[in-house]
Amino acid sequence: MYLTQEEESVLEGEQGPTLQKAMEIITALGEIYGADSLVPVTSTQIAGVSYKTIGDAGLEWISDLDGEVVVPSILNPAGMDLERWQEMGIDASFAAKQLEIIKAYRRLGIRCECTCTPYHIDKTLASFGDHLAWSESSAVSYANSVIGARTNREGGPSALAAALIGKTANYGYHLDENRVPVITVQVECKLKGADYGALGYLAGASIGSDVPIFKLISQPSKTNLKALGAAMAASGAVALYHIHGVTPEADQYESPDNTLIIERSEIDDIFKQVCENGPDLVALGCPHYSIEELERLSRLLDGKTLNKEVWVCTSRAIKRSNPDVIRNIEANGVKVFTDTCMVVSPATERFNCTLTDSGKALKYIPNLCGVRTQLAHMHDCLKGGDVD
Ligand code: F3S
Repeated sequence: MYLTQEEESVLEGEQGPTLQKAMEIITALGEIYGADSLVPVTSTQIAGVSYKTIGDAGLEWISDLDGEVVVPSILNPAGMDLERWQEMGIDASFAAKQLEIIKAYRRLGIRCECTCTPYHIDKTLASFGDHLAWSESSAVSYANSVIGARTNREGGPSALAAALIGKTANYGYHLDENRVPVITVQVECKLKGADYGALGYLAGASIGSDVPIFKLISQPSKTNLKALGAAMAASGAVALYHIHGVTPEADQYESPDNTLIIERSEIDDIFKQVCENGPDLVALGCPHYSIEELERLSRLLDGKTLNKEVWVCTSRAIKRSNPDVIRNIEANGVKVFTDTCMVVSPATERFNCTLTDSGKALKYIPNLCGVRTQLAHMHDCLKGGDVD
């Protein structure tokens, strides 16, 4: 892999041990995946924030680093709402460790908005054609597919390394040849709301890590695209997809003959997987809800009586800038949590069954929290599982 003189000097430790370590991580990945050079990145999104997932070893690693990031960098969700963790049922020792992790990241100049939807809060972080180093799989999918930016699914350490160096290795989805679809997914029914999460859940499990191109009857919104990509990245490892007439790179490609057909009955079956005794938590906001989704939730809540605990996760920036919407949601008994989510927080683990409108949460809550989960549309979630 070609390195400039400046990059070589960083690798040799001439700019200190933190940058040397960061450069070692980036060049090691570049060598493994056959990169020809490094490429500058516009922004980074760094996973490995929840104390539940990184533990003391992760905290120690981040705390030992010094220096400052050189490109705009933002964090993935943490293990708790950084202010309202007691309401989530988080214990004080976990909270203390979590706050130490945030402090260690802040010391490196990272913006401590903890969200998997950075594109909802700052449009300058990713534009068409930008190279990025983002970590969280749904954010990676959205950046590649919906925005047309270019990022691999970075691990926490490699995204942090890219933040410190301002570059990543030029391989994978940074290259044109790896963005070409290799399978067509033909969906033979109209879709709405959580159908897109169910579709992603089904398609991802079949596709694995390939790049699909979809033929859809319905015209998806950006919210639908977020849900589809998140679920495909969870049940499979799809980091980039195209949809003819919808996503920005799709129309330069033909549909491959290799075709996966998905029918209405398969999507309906995903909604039929229910817990025996019904859900005891409704968990919305995976990925973090946008203001449009919060406004819809707020409208749906008016006049409803909730019969379950309901959480909705969003970013602190969206909560901060939309106080009236949040006030109305909370006045109706819903807890709006920021900085965290139902998967990376240990708080979900005390429940028996969650109800969600997310195909990604449907996959991850059972796997990562050990809690059974069922899927429903947003309006049905508010009925606590009593679906009409
Ligand atoms: Fe985001 Fe957590 Fe879901 S990080 S995509 S809300 S699992």
